Amino acid sequence: MPAPVTVSKEQLDKQFTYIDAVAGLIRDKRPRAYTHTFGCQQNEADTERIRGMLHEMGYEMTNNADEADFILFNTCAVREHAEDRAFGNIGALSHLKKRRPEVIIALCGCMAQQEKNVEKIKKSYPQVSLLFGTHALWRFPSLLYRVLTEKKRVFDIGGEDDIAEGLPVLRARGAKAWLSIMYGCNNFCTYCIVPYVRGRERSRRPEEIERELRELIAAGYKEITLLGQNVNSYGKDLGLNIDFAGLLRRLNAVPGDFWLRFMTSHPKDASPRLFDAMADCEKVAKQLHLPFQSGSNEILRRMNRHYTAESYRTLIQDARQKMPDITLSSDIIVGFPGETEQDFAQTLALVDEVRFDLLFTFLYSPRSGTPAASYEDPVTPEEKQRRFERLLRVQDEIVAERQAAYQGKRLRLLVDGMAKGPDYPYTARTEGNLLVCVCGDGIQTGEFIQAEIEKTTLRCLFARKL
Ligand code: SAH
Ligand code: SF4
Ligand code: F3S
Repeated sequence: MPAPVTVSKEQLDKQFTYIDAVAGLIRDKRPRAYTHTFGCQQNEADTERIRGMLHEMGYEMTNNADEADFILFNTCAVREHAEDRAFGNIGALSHLKKRRPEVIIALCGCMAQQEKNVEKIKKSYPQVSLLFGTHALWRFPSLLYRVLTEKKRVFDIGGEDDIAEGLPVLRARGAKAWLSIMYGCNNFCTYCIVPYVRGRERSRRPEEIERELRELIAAGYKEITLLGQNVNSYGKDLGLNIDFAGLLRRLNAVPGDFWLRFMTSHPKDASPRLFDAMADCEKVAKQLHLPFQSGSNEILRRMNRHYTAESYRTLIQDARQKMPDITLSSDIIVGFPGETEQDFAQTLALVDEVRFDLLFTFLYSPRSGTPAASYEDPVTPEEKQRRFERLLRVQDEIVAERQAAYQGKRLRLLVDGMAKGPDYPYTARTEGNLLVCVCGDGIQTGEFIQAEIEKTTLRCLFARKL
């Protein structure tokens, strides 16, 4: 595999000159920028880099699109619903653009990377002045400069599978931070659009990742989530004799009191070696998101997933044997083309057996350009909906039981925000990433505390600080 292309220093320096140039153009206007992110954590991490560039240009951030001079939607293409929401939001901005024609509306991310959407935006959404794909993100300063100076619409979905190091970043304040360790995906699951809009897998160099982790720890972040579409194939393209388990061990050695999480693991690449590293590394949270998608081997084969329900069970057993208290979560697709009642029953059986703490369940959504979109699909939408609801009912019972088992337990928690209710005014997370509402004296956001669980519901544990 060829080594990933890193954007050269000259190319990046040029973008920094564009940041200065935009700053010069807008200096006296005190402009404000509003961003909205659809989709996964990878997109959130990308938005933080765009916000970093905007901040360097002199934009102030606002949470109110109505008062913004620059509005950006970072979009997701994974399901139709995500696309519909983005188009709905852009459509709703046509009034704002009429009232204030100087407002710049921009679109980026996974949807923007697709040719068919570019055509649609060009034709039917004239309020959008700037569109750029996932590969063009690091060129954002030059693109915005062109919009501001040429006074015409700019579209850029070109670019290669490269890595840009050293872009500015403006992170959300708080206890948690994202840390991308790789980009893209090589798996081509037959239902999934991600490999088409994010390009091939490419890993950041371990020293860059470690440098960023050290910066995050120095800045006070306490929970760092390593991001990649398939973190278990980290390093395969680097030729450096480091894999994901090795990276975890290296990052675990960084001094400081913090939790390391990661997502997403693919069952075809997750291994006993990974679980050994997790068990050995005290800073790696004992939590695993391992999407299995379907419990039927025939469906898994047609999804191009390269594992079986049996090999998945074996992995879970190994993880639980090495980390008895591990928290497990998964993604499931209901209603993949041709899914029979028997196939679905196997999904239910796996859910019933593994007893996940958390499930993300999705109705299959055809994505044009993916192989599964042309598979025959005789099952009616009503039947798919019924299966979906059956799955939710089974899972709700499991969650109630798993949550109840926490009653009276004493745990270490990371306080991460404010809750809605008055009795337990803070939110926190367990090492397993379960949501907790917590009360007690002297609680501060961003700090670890010891607490005792006083009651539990389906969605939340309630605890008192010790
Ligand atoms: N790379 C990650 C997840 C990427 S997308 C992984 O492989 O686990 C997140 C989840 O969205 C997937 O796990 C899958 O369950 C779901 N998903 C992806 N494409 C979908 C589609 N076309 N319809 C419904 N759900 C989909
Ligand atoms: Fe999509 Fe599969 Fe890649 Fe995950 S591993 S991003 S589901 S193609
Ligand atoms: Fe969506 Fe792109 Fe993430 S399609 S799920 S935002 S990689």
